[in-house]
Amino acid sequence: MSTKPVTGIESRKTDRQDAWWIEPLFTVLSLGLFGLYAFWVALNRQHYEYGPYLSPFYSIPLPGVHAKDLDWLAISPAFLVLWIPLGFRATCYYYRKAYYRAFFWDPPACAVPELRKAYKGERAFPFVLNNLHRYFWYLSVPVVAFLWYDAIKAFFFEDGFGIGVGSLIMLGNVILLSYYTFSCHAWRHLAGGCLNCMSKHKTRYTLWQRISRINESHGFWGVVSMLSVWFTDVYIRLCSMGTITDIRLF
Ligand code: FES
Repeated sequence: MSTKPVTGIESRKTDRQDAWWIEPLFTVLSLGLFGLYAFWVALNRQHYEYGPYLSPFYSIPLPGVHAKDLDWLAISPAFLVLWIPLGFRATCYYYRKAYYRAFFWDPPACAVPELRKAYKGERAFPFVLNNLHRYFWYLSVPVVAFLWYDAIKAFFFEDGFGIGVGSLIMLGNVILLSYYTFSCHAWRHLAGGCLNCMSKHKTRYTLWQRISRINESHGFWGVVSMLSVWFTDVYIRLCSMGTITDIRLF
């Protein structure tokens, strides 16, 4: 066996024969395109509602305040909301793994060497800000509560209660976002962390067990909830533009 040290380009090769690059590629494409789309939607300031449907990008988490009430603002009202979910996702444990791998090649996959020679972890700016994750969780819970309010409102049309395809899309979207938010590692720690004896805290233990169950699929909820926010906005936008017609099922 050779004892020659591996250096430079040679050290960056991997023996993996599988398509390990598919996951980072998917992450780059999905996060990159979603980020650009979210920015464009925020700048666009139109076609964000149709009938009782309101795009999640324009759901203002303030009681009685509709995005239209803030038309006088120089910046889009969407920016008042977006920093919370974007901060929440950017500091999320799952997304951190995903974007460190995909964007920084740090490392790109298991058993594939990383590009950077010196890894400083999350002790320096800007990545030290990832430690704010639990505070973004606190801010995200009211955002999800307002999205539930919007989803319920999506069942009340001008002529009363009804069910449209858009109502179901908005309901599905908030369910997925709730799974994502309440499968969070920080929430799991809040529920069951710092306890020496679980059996003395039955309520917290039960809650922790339930969160742990959905926490196992946290990455999945992260991806599907992001896609559902995207899809919900596109659906409402196309209805508002007259490109498609919302079907009333009831
Ligand atoms: Fe992903 Fe908290 S760890 S949202």
